[in-house]
Amino acid sequence: MPQAMPDYTQRDATDRWNAVAEAWAIRYGANDANRRFLLDPVLLNLLGAVTRKRVLDAGCGEGYFARRLAQMGAQVTGMELAERMLQRAVQQEERQPLGIAYLHGDITAMGLCSESFQAIVSNVVLVDVQDLAGALQEFFRVLQPGGVLVCSTIHPCFFTRDSGWVKDEQGRALHFRIDRYFERGAVEDVPWVDRSTPMIAFHHTLEDLVDGLLNCGFVLQRLLEPLPQPEYYQARPNDFNYDRIPNFLVIKAQKP
Ligand SMILES: C[S@@+](CC[C@H](N)C(=O)[O-])C[C@H]1O[C@@H](n2cnc3c(N)ncnc32)[C@H](O)[C@@H]1O
Repeated sequence: MPQAMPDYTQRDATDRWNAVAEAWAIRYGANDANRRFLLDPVLLNLLGAVTRKRVLDAGCGEGYFARRLAQMGAQVTGMELAERMLQRAVQQEERQPLGIAYLHGDITAMGLCSESFQAIVSNVVLVDVQDLAGALQEFFRVLQPGGVLVCSTIHPCFFTRDSGWVKDEQGRALHFRIDRYFERGAVEDVPWVDRSTPMIAFHHTLEDLVDGLLNCGFVLQRLLEPLPQPEYYQARPNDFNYDRIPNFLVIKAQKP
């Protein structure tokens, strides 16, 4: 029998992000291999030229990607729900100003004017959002016609309420187990940011995401399952499983 999952909410998930804000900033800063050798090159390539463009970093965390975009000449707004993550972004902006406007807010109800942005980037955020449809609708609303959404997320087919590597006695990965795919909702994940705080994410299906975008009116332009660049394995020689199943899904969609 499947086990019942606690009824965690977006607020519970946000409390966890607040609890790990410092550890996250230390561990997943500019040197993180996932950023440098996997996601950043893909996201930046899909975004194309950003100079002088109004770009929203939706779920900006402590501002890593917002800073990258501002350094490339974009006019960046960052929105973030977890107060402590946002505080770190604001402090960094005060230390080294790049002209980024940081807002405390929920990307499912932004309170921003319609058609304000030429591009939205949302880097590994949608798996942390309870109301996925609400976020996609808001993305569509605040984008200008012709504007693009580029987002990455944990691959929804490989992150469910019951999924993970099945290992042998020596700890070698035998195969990946997926179950309970259609059970949407909160997943209490392992404490992958700091050892004392399990994270809370939200499982959505691939259909929720892709059909959700199409329902809003987006035109799907790209759907990628990026593999790490070779340098990734030099930085993290023990992560041998990334080329067996995709960890991330990256999507580019346009508002017509
Ligand atoms: C994995 S972190 C990624 C942060 C950032 N995009 C980056 O590249 O470092 C996910 C972030 O999404 C934020 N988040 C989750 N749900 C949100 C929501 N509904 N509105 C705004 N931010 C949200 C979390 O608080 C967390 O900071």
